[in-house]
Amino acid sequence: MSYANAVEARDLTRNFGDFTAVDRVSFAIPKGEIFGLLGPNGAGKTTIIRMLCGILLPTTGEAGVVGFNVAKEPEEVKKRIGYMSQLFSLYNDLTAYENLDFYANVYGVPKKEKKSRLEELIEISGFRGYEHNLTGNLSGAWRQRLALACAIVHKPAMLFLDEPTAGVDPVSRREFWDLIYTMAGQGVSVLATTHYMDEAEYCNIIGMMHQAKLIALDDPDSLRNKIQHILVQVECDKPGAARKLLSEVPGVIDATIHGVLLHILVEGLDVQKRIREVLAGAQISVHAIEKILPSLEDVFVTLVEDQYREALRTEFLEETSHAST
Ligand SMILES: Nc1ncnc2c1ncn2[C@@H]1O[C@H](COP(=O)(O)OP(=O)(O)OP(=O)(O)O)[C@@H](O)[C@H]1O
Ligand SMILES: [Mg+2]
Repeated sequence: MSYANAVEARDLTRNFGDFTAVDRVSFAIPKGEIFGLLGPNGAGKTTIIRMLCGILLPTTGEAGVVGFNVAKEPEEVKKRIGYMSQLFSLYNDLTAYENLDFYANVYGVPKKEKKSRLEELIEISGFRGYEHNLTGNLSGAWRQRLALACAIVHKPAMLFLDEPTAGVDPVSRREFWDLIYTMAGQGVSVLATTHYMDEAEYCNIIGMMHQAKLIALDDPDSLRNKIQHILVQVECDKPGAARKLLSEVPGVIDATIHGVLLHILVEGLDVQKRIREVLAGAQISVHAIEKILPSLEDVFVTLVEDQYREALRTEFLEETSHAST
């Protein structure tokens, strides 16, 4: 079996006992692309990464990474990838430079190339002038940057980043993504997981995971166009109380608070009238109400709702067919 793409997962499945953590997931990452894997806690993201890195065997299905089968040739895969895990380990009592040096030795970077590679990494990761600071004194955002630099010290063709920006402030997150872009520009393919839906905008392809399954796979714009529903933004008094009331209105799929604004996902524009009536009835003043473009978070919520509704419908049909037999 040959693999033309940086990653090819075909019906990749992993069970832990009776529990299915990853359920028949298929996708491909073309060389040089940035793939974002999104989904809530426990969706199966880390389990997919561990299988693609050759450290966890798939139960069924298969995957090729940088041209090698992850189950049959895990050592070939490991040599050619970088992996920044959720619990990446840096040595606090070493300086930034010493951590890089340590990982260069672990990954077997040839001695004659090591010095220039470390200099290059210090430059692109923005550590110049701080490379001799103790790692234990670095902020969270700088630790993530250092961990990323360590993960690419051996110039991997494919990079796996498991929640690389968890707990990092929005500005540093953007800078971190700039760094990822710089690397992708050099031909590295990237798979990154995240909880932050806004970060998915940085990716060329997005896979959305929910309860072990891939429920959507597309580029960000196409995903947004998938939503049949309409997103309405409401500016009103008492957004908390308003959200609760509006969640009950027929035709409202989801109501979420974004700062002082409400985002209401509705089935048709005529629901706007009902929204106004309900809020007026509760004596909540509406300052503005307008249609807006859905975010990727809205897409995710809608897809999960659709799946849930379909599951309920199937269950209902099964029950009624049992009842009538
Ligand atoms: N070694 C294991 N043994 C048993 N269950 C496991 C094991 N590893 C993962 N799981 C379960 O598989 C499911 C998926 O876990 P996974 O870590 O892949 O999710 P995730 O999407 O990475 O979540 P998070 O966003 O919290 O990191 C979870 O319910 C988890 O408890
Ligand atoms: Mg995880």
